[in-house]
Amino acid sequence: MKKVLVTGGAGFIGGNFVQYMVNKYPEYQIYNLDLLTYAADLTKHKNIEEKENYHFEKADIADREVMMRLFDKEKFDFVAHFAAESHVDRSITEPGIFVQTNVLGTQVLLDAAKEYKVSKFVHVSTDEVYGELDFDPTTFFTEETPLQPNSPYSASKASSDLLVRAYHETFGMPMNITRCSNNYGPYHFPEKLIPLTISRVLNNEKVPVYGDGKNIRDWLHVLDHCSAIDLVMHEGVNGEVYNVGGHNERTNLEVVQTIIKTLDKSEDLIEFVTDRLGHDKRYAIDPTKLEQLGWKPTYTFETGIAQTINWYLENQWWWEQIISGEYQQYFNKQYKL
Ligand code: NAD
Ligand code: TYD
Repeated sequence: MKKVLVTGGAGFIGGNFVQYMVNKYPEYQIYNLDLLTYAADLTKHKNIEEKENYHFEKADIADREVMMRLFDKEKFDFVAHFAAESHVDRSITEPGIFVQTNVLGTQVLLDAAKEYKVSKFVHVSTDEVYGELDFDPTTFFTEETPLQPNSPYSASKASSDLLVRAYHETFGMPMNITRCSNNYGPYHFPEKLIPLTISRVLNNEKVPVYGDGKNIRDWLHVLDHCSAIDLVMHEGVNGEVYNVGGHNERTNLEVVQTIIKTLDKSEDLIEFVTDRLGHDKRYAIDPTKLEQLGWKPTYTFETGIAQTINWYLENQWWWEQIISGEYQQYFNKQYKL
């Protein structure tokens, strides 16, 4: 039996990971710790609430006293650290909370993990810490690419990566850092490009595309990210960084066009809007190191986006409750569409 702490397990990727682990490892105890910010939602875990190997704790990772007490009580074997402020646009308007949660929160967790001797701390990071690539399709981010974050979000994630590394070098903390490309899939909060586009197209509303729409992202289905974290948690070589990605590069315009076409709607819904400040041109992952550990994605972009669009069609109740609330104020302030 292993005890696994999943931070941010009420969010998009952490939430998918909690479901994945609870079902795959009935002999493990899975603890979901989440502050329940605007990005969280617990209704997604209704199906596992009663399971004996699932536990939920509402708490702030930056609350040192609470973290120390929890680690003392539970003596976790593994930590999978997802909790974070995760949206680049919000980091441009409100950077402070990104430092508070992503940097200071991670440092508090590291102290607790060190004090109570966890056997593996998996820090879930992002390819955005590497900065941007140009449009030359033969260049990729490897684990050796220098960290050159451009947004307050990616700068806060890079800072947390460096702290995790330092706790390994200084205190011998057993850890891995994973740096994944853009995820998509079920329960993705509709502030991000793919769920925002699906929900707006379904409602026949304009879809805001920043700049000329030619920026490139490398898309990975969230379940392929979950299997990567699972593998790294169990098999990752102590102290190593692993990039996660499936070679699914698309321009933003291609992504939006694919969704519009699948839903049989008109491209007149596309509205080119003022570009994001400091908008990274291109992300693209070289996943060779993780593949050598035995990881293989199961979705192509085509199969993954079709599955995801279907999910949003079948689970309209989930995203409609989100976009009708506080989200609407955020959207109006952000876009003025
Ligand atoms: P998300 O915004 O959907 O979820 C984040 C979760 O963390 C929320 O449930 C929120 O309530 C919780 N949280 C925030 N502050 C907290 C705090 N102080 N204490 C406890 N919980 C707190 O994010 P996501 O898209 O699921 O991303 C999860 C992780 O994966 C992040 O660390 C992100 O940097 C990383 N990542 C994301 C992507 C992506 O495409 N979304 C890609 C690579 C890496
Ligand atoms: P996003 O989903 O916010 O992820 P990230 O910024 O972490 O890559 O954005 C993905 C891409 O889509 C990015 O290049 C910005 C662009 N984008 C738009 O064009 N319009 C939008 O409304 C949003 C949210 C993003």
